[in-house]
Amino acid sequence: MILILIFLLPLALLPQCVFAQSPSTSDTSIPSVSVGSVNSTSSSPLSTTSSESAGGIPVETPTSGRQNVTATTSTTSLDVTAIVGLSPSTDTTDGSASTTSAAHPRPTNTRPCNGYVEFCQRKISNISMVVAHNSPFVRLHNAASNQAYPVLNQLNDGIRGLQFETQKPNASSSIRLCHTSCDLLDMGTLESYLATVKTWLDKNPYEVIAIMMGNNNGLSTRIPATDYIAPFHASGIQNYLWTPPSPTLNLPDWPTLSHLILTNKRVITMLDYGAHPPTVPWLLPEFNYQWQTPFSPTDPAFPCTQHRPPNQPDPVSRNRMYMLNHNLNIQLRILPGQAPILLPAYSLLDQVNAVAGNGSLGRSVKECEALWGRPPNWILVDYYNCGSFNGSVFEVAARANRVPFWDRACCGSGLVSGARGWVLRGWLWAVSGMVVGWLLV
Ligand SMILES: *[C@@H]1O[C@H](CO)[C@@H](O)[C@H](O)[C@H]1NC(C)=O
Ligand SMILES: *[C@@H]1O[C@H](CO)[C@@H](O)[C@H](O)[C@H]1NC(C)=O
Ligand SMILES: *[C@@H]1O[C@H](CO)[C@@H](O)[C@H](O)[C@H]1NC(C)=O
Ligand SMILES: *[C@@H]1O[C@H](CO)[C@@H](O)[C@H](O)[C@H]1NC(C)=O
Ligand SMILES: *[C@@H]1O[C@H](CO)[C@@H](O)[C@H](O)[C@H]1NC(C)=O
Ligand SMILES: *[C@@H]1O[C@H](CO)[C@@H](O)[C@H](O)[C@H]1NC(C)=O
Repeated sequence: MILILIFLLPLALLPQCVFAQSPSTSDTSIPSVSVGSVNSTSSSPLSTTSSESAGGIPVETPTSGRQNVTATTSTTSLDVTAIVGLSPSTDTTDGSASTTSAAHPRPTNTRPCNGYVEFCQRKISNISMVVAHNSPFVRLHNAASNQAYPVLNQLNDGIRGLQFETQKPNASSSIRLCHTSCDLLDMGTLESYLATVKTWLDKNPYEVIAIMMGNNNGLSTRIPATDYIAPFHASGIQNYLWTPPSPTLNLPDWPTLSHLILTNKRVITMLDYGAHPPTVPWLLPEFNYQWQTPFSPTDPAFPCTQHRPPNQPDPVSRNRMYMLNHNLNIQLRILPGQAPILLPAYSLLDQVNAVAGNGSLGRSVKECEALWGRPPNWILVDYYNCGSFNGSVFEVAARANRVPFWDRACCGSGLVSGARGWVLRGWLWAVSGMVVGWLLV
């Protein structure tokens, strides 16, 4: 009975943006929109032979002359590798046929890295990116959902951090993606989710992402770090995993996006607790590398204080990457005998994800900047498509990065998988309204 109630609950609370799925969508097609779809060429800097038009990357014709991408790969030292670019104004060709010995025109990089040309040369510790809180938890009518669109849509829309819980409901189970309890919301195996993400990385060779996992949250035991090896290998994502050069990294120590792209180690993988670098070197113990503001807050003020790891000295925090948890929750006790679960505060989503205003993401990021002298590296949100307009969270990130915001079509164009429309509404609103009233007393 109570389990049924949580399926009704969201109907009373969700704003329009949460009902994003259209009833008639294809499960297979990849949208033809790529993130920050500025003009770009089709070649990969790693000379993987692809004409990536299948992934929808717009192809620039060579006639645009100076706007050539140059990715200089050095076979002797990866450290000097860069996606380089000079502004067109430094080009000095004058069209004279006699200057055959003159220097070639300097190349200009028009290939965006994570959506922006400006990011290619930046260290990842100097970029703000939007993180989908509980990225896999997309199920209509389930109150334990945190997102409206599945992971391929998230990535196509500009999400670059994928955060979620991992659980092993019993010793013989493979690692699964469950919210609080596998009885409440079980989105399948970690391996299958990673395999999906891997297909996207294959098609988008200039994109760098982070995967941030929670280890058996809420359960008393931690999943051994070595158990994560099998799903990462079997999914095929293994080859993209970046291994850090040292047990902790301060802001200046992180690589640039172009370094990660050219070495094709485009996935940074973190685990909150229980990582073990000696045996699984690509699985970063998250809090050795970055800290977080209060997690799953129910406080609409979103203080930008350092919360995890606890008691970290201020000078250390100032020199590390950090994540702003900007998801507002309400607490509901749904399963008798279990801890209350935290659900997104649906009715406030548009305000919480807005560019400006009370309790908005935009305001929080500014407060973080004032407190720490720089914006958060990771901006974690529920239902990233909701906000003061659809996709306003990406404007907040663009402002933090001091880059122009392209008001691109957002979000979820060409639903990619798993989502199904729904038609029931009317009377269910009334029923679920009563249910919610009852649950909240
Ligand atoms: C925002 O998204 C919702 C849900 O997909 C849609 O109904 C609405 O038209 C969108 N609004 C704009 C301004 O695009
Ligand atoms: C891409 O190039 C085409 C043709 O040169 C141009 O019409 C279009 O505006 C360009 N798009 C962007 C985003 O620069
Ligand atoms: C850009 O590439 C085209 C085709 O490879 C070449 O003809 C042209 O000279 C290049 N332009 C510059 C500025 O390097
Ligand atoms: C990047 O570094 C500069 C210089 O320290 C700083 O002002 C800026 O806020 C940083 N931006 C991000 C997104 O970290
Ligand atoms: C262990 O968990 C898996 C996945 O939820 C389930 O299929 C299996 O039946 C469970 N086994 C036992 C012994 O409980
Ligand atoms: C902003 O929120 C605070 C605390 O939630 C409230 O006291 C204040 O009145 C709000 N201000 C506006 C302008 O809504």
